[in-house]
Amino acid sequence: MTNLTGTNVLLGISGGIAAYKSAELTRLFIKQNANVRVCMTQSAIEFITPLTLQALSGNPVHTDLFDVEAEAAMGHIELAKWADIIVVAPATANTIAKIAHGRADNLLTTLILASKAKLYIAPAMNQAMWANPQTTANIKQLEQNKISLLGPDAGEQACGDIGLGRMLEPAEIVDQIIAESTATPSLQGVSVLITAGPTREALDPVRYLTNRSSGKMGYAIAEAAKKQGAQVTLVSGPVHLDTPANIETIDVESAQEMFSAVSKHAKQADIFIACAAVADFSPATTSNNKIKKNSDTETLELTLTKNPDILAETSHAHPNLFTVGFAAETTDLEKYAKGKLISKKLNMIAANKVGKNQGFDKDDNALLVLWEGGKCTLPLTSKKHLSQQLVQLISEHFEIYKHHLPSNTHDEQDV
Ligand code: CTP
Repeated sequence: MTNLTGTNVLLGISGGIAAYKSAELTRLFIKQNANVRVCMTQSAIEFITPLTLQALSGNPVHTDLFDVEAEAAMGHIELAKWADIIVVAPATANTIAKIAHGRADNLLTTLILASKAKLYIAPAMNQAMWANPQTTANIKQLEQNKISLLGPDAGEQACGDIGLGRMLEPAEIVDQIIAESTATPSLQGVSVLITAGPTREALDPVRYLTNRSSGKMGYAIAEAAKKQGAQVTLVSGPVHLDTPANIETIDVESAQEMFSAVSKHAKQADIFIACAAVADFSPATTSNNKIKKNSDTETLELTLTKNPDILAETSHAHPNLFTVGFAAETTDLEKYAKGKLISKKLNMIAANKVGKNQGFDKDDNALLVLWEGGKCTLPLTSKKHLSQQLVQLISEHFEIYKHHLPSNTHDEQDV
């Protein structure tokens, strides 16, 4: 396993003489076990053939926004969502200017505008173009937009000039991306238990009470924690999502079943992230047979009993466990989240607004994250990206927390 294992890399190639180096760059990404898809501008095709990049990446190369066949195989928006990182190498002065100004006049710039992936730019141009104040202003704009610059290098240029503007060597580009992606504290060797999705509380053999949770956030957190090297156990309510590869997933239905699975695994866990939308109540009795419609009455009364609060019970039973809760609120986000942070004895809570068009069953989300004496906002972005940011925050706080723990942290107590 390398640091880019499983990372979806979208390599954008624009039209500069350094485009020939992107063949080597593709090979190095593949060597790092990354998944690589290549997008070339029309000018790039003048310097290197798509066939070369297709053979090296193992995927068809994307060149045209209006290619019906390519769109049918993987649409450009789908491709923009697929990417974990986008690397533009070489990035010409023209492409840099377009990105800085939010243009979308070819497939590459359209993908960049449509994607929430981390963007890396490896400039390659003549030294006078690089030194031009317009380029300087464009680069400044990119830096303000938190785009990572890789290079350029100084030295002799293809045109004979000497100065800044050469594209970094492919190995250096890969090294810098790896260095940046591993600059965050890792969860290597850390055991993370996560709940996700809704629960179903049976009324009879064919009916149940549930909620709108899709499980997307919990699954994205599981993937993000796995990517940080954690050993992940996912306890999942019923969802329509693929079981994540290489993650131990325990499927449950009811809150009670979720509680049992969590209780069993909490002992070995270092971090517990409760992302599931657990039903707070379940029917007091579950009928063995289908409940029949009674023709005499117009109403049906249900008696509900309280389910265990899985998060609160677990945090109380395992005081050394680093616990992270979620708070789904329609109003008074911070007030309610703070209350849950304290009453459930949590180390951290991630609060989000739910309601019409927000939170549940959506691909995007925003979070307000609180801990004792601090808070931060993670603005609206894809659940995938948001979960990476949240896991990074959790790992930073866990890193500090574990130094204050007694040496053997896995307590023997059962919930
Ligand atoms: N939770 C849990 N078990 C429950 C209810 C909630 O583990 N029976 C967890 C959720 O996974 C979440 C946190 O507690 O991490 C808060 O859940 P939320 O539904 O926002 O709040 P509740 O505690 O249920 O309170 P309320 O419904 O009154 O807002």
